Amino acid sequence: MKVGVVGGTGDFGLALARLLVAGGDDVVVGSRDAERARVAAEPIGAAGATNDDAVAGADLVVLAVKADSALETGAALAAAIGGTPTLSVASELVFSKSGVRPRQSERSLAEELANRLDGPVVAGLHSLAASTLAAGPADGDALVCGDDEDAKRLALELAAKVVTGRALDAGPLASARALEGMTAVIVNLNRRYKGHAGLRVTGLP
Ligand SMILES: NC(=O)c1ccc[n+]([C@@H]2O[C@H](COP(=O)([O-])OP(=O)(O)OC[C@H]3O[C@@H](n4cnc5c(N)ncnc54)[C@H](OP(=O)(O)O)[C@@H]3O)[C@@H](O)[C@H]2O)c1
Repeated sequence: MKVGVVGGTGDFGLALARLLVAGGDDVVVGSRDAERARVAAEPIGAAGATNDDAVAGADLVVLAVKADSALETGAALAAAIGGTPTLSVASELVFSKSGVRPRQSERSLAEELANRLDGPVVAGLHSLAASTLAAGPADGDALVCGDDEDAKRLALELAAKVVTGRALDAGPLASARALEGMTAVIVNLNRRYKGHAGLRVTGLP
């Protein structure tokens, strides 16, 4: 699969890109700066390019920019992405003294992104910490949701390469509201127990 990782110079995008290259995918690390992309991509055996060039010809785009710039970046790349499926991994978090909270909005970032792109949007991998992925496939399952079955199949194929457990279909794109919110739960667990929490779903055949 050819994967374009927008914002692939970041902790999450680069760790993901490294695992995908190891799994045999053709990966282009994207950045706002082509040279920054090339410097980040070269050691992991990926190509580096501007975000616009990274999404060109991809089978699946992963939008891995800083969460608060995900919608703006998605909209700016809409023409370049065209009808290609996009995987949204973003969760916007609000930090407070009492803990971390999910962004206050009725709809998920992924649903809002879907309004800005022509191609299908799927969401997932929110429970996988960049630091965990940097050490290899994450212990646990990866949840993916979306309304387009072909796009979801591609995202599940990608997800299966980056966890030791299963890549699971968590239903329609509206499930992204829960998946994005789960990131806040995980960050709170990590703070409270000083760990690296992941998710494992039980009771499924
Ligand atoms: N970190 C985690 O553990 C984790 C876990 C699950 C999901 N996620 C999600 O993964 C995404 C990336 O997380 P991260 O921790 O890797 O983020 P990050 O390091 O803060 O940022 C990733 C990349 O975003 C680009 N960027 C920064 N500001 C931007 C802007 N204003 N406009 C366009 N691009 C911008 C930068 O790339 P260039 O400067 O090279 O363009 C940067 O390398 C987020 O949406 C996050 O919610 C993160």
